[in-house]
Amino acid sequence: METEKRKKVAFSFVFPVERCLFSPRIFLRRFSRSHAEEYLELVEKNRFWLLPWMPESSKPPLLADIQRSIEFEHQESKRSQRLDMGIFRRSDGAILGRISLHSVHWGVSFSAGLGYWIDLENSGMGLMTEAVSTILAACFEDANFHRVWAGVQPLNQASRKVLEKLGFVREGLHRKELFINGKWQDQYCFSLLDEEYRQLVGTWRKKGWLER
Ligand SMILES: CC(C)(COP(=O)(O)OP(=O)(O)OC[C@H]1O[C@@H](n2cnc3c(N)ncnc32)[C@H](O)[C@@H]1OP(=O)(O)O)[C@@H](O)C(=O)NCCC(=O)NCCS
Repeated sequence: METEKRKKVAFSFVFPVERCLFSPRIFLRRFSRSHAEEYLELVEKNRFWLLPWMPESSKPPLLADIQRSIEFEHQESKRSQRLDMGIFRRSDGAILGRISLHSVHWGVSFSAGLGYWIDLENSGMGLMTEAVSTILAACFEDANFHRVWAGVQPLNQASRKVLEKLGFVREGLHRKELFINGKWQDQYCFSLLDEEYRQLVGTWRKKGWLER
């Protein structure tokens, strides 16, 4: 019988707190407490932009909530259970959004869910395509993942486009999966496998989505 040789990876080893993942126009790195204020401003500014697409807490967050969630993210990444990174502009270091690996399963799965958002003023410029391809390269090259998936509402054209451009495969519709913006929303499940990544990565480089 064939056995799977894949090994669980410690995020503290492959994604140490200070590691930055670069793409041509942005870099990804973990938030620290010093980012909390700027990040909170970005969240407040984008509240109505995110409302239709992202689950949100019942009340708008305060600075202390953001600081607590940064602490929580660091704890979870020490357990290799999730990885949350800010999206920063390379030219001036401004925070533009966020990208996360959540629902990480090792064992017989080696999979993670992907979530992301970007500031409205910086959307539509191809930056999320860079962010997603960059984190995927790290997932498949450094973190031994076998499958990365993302749930997207059928009407979220921009998000679907990001995944489709990158070659994610639409697997099906999860009915009424998440409670967002006051109601249960269907989500398409898209996924990418490690063997698909290896076939696509050359094209991503040629398109300029990944750092050379
Ligand atoms: C989804 C999101 C992250 C995309 O980020 P982005 O930086 O704008 O993405 P990109 O510019 O890399 O790619 C977006 C693509 O969608 C296209 N697009 C944007 N709005 C669209 C629309 N209404 N209909 C069709 N295509 C659309 C863009 O033209 C672009 O495609 P192109 O490169 O072929 O021109 C951003 O719109 C966002 O943060 N939305 C709110 C939060 C959210 O939806 N998060 C994801 C939840 S699953």
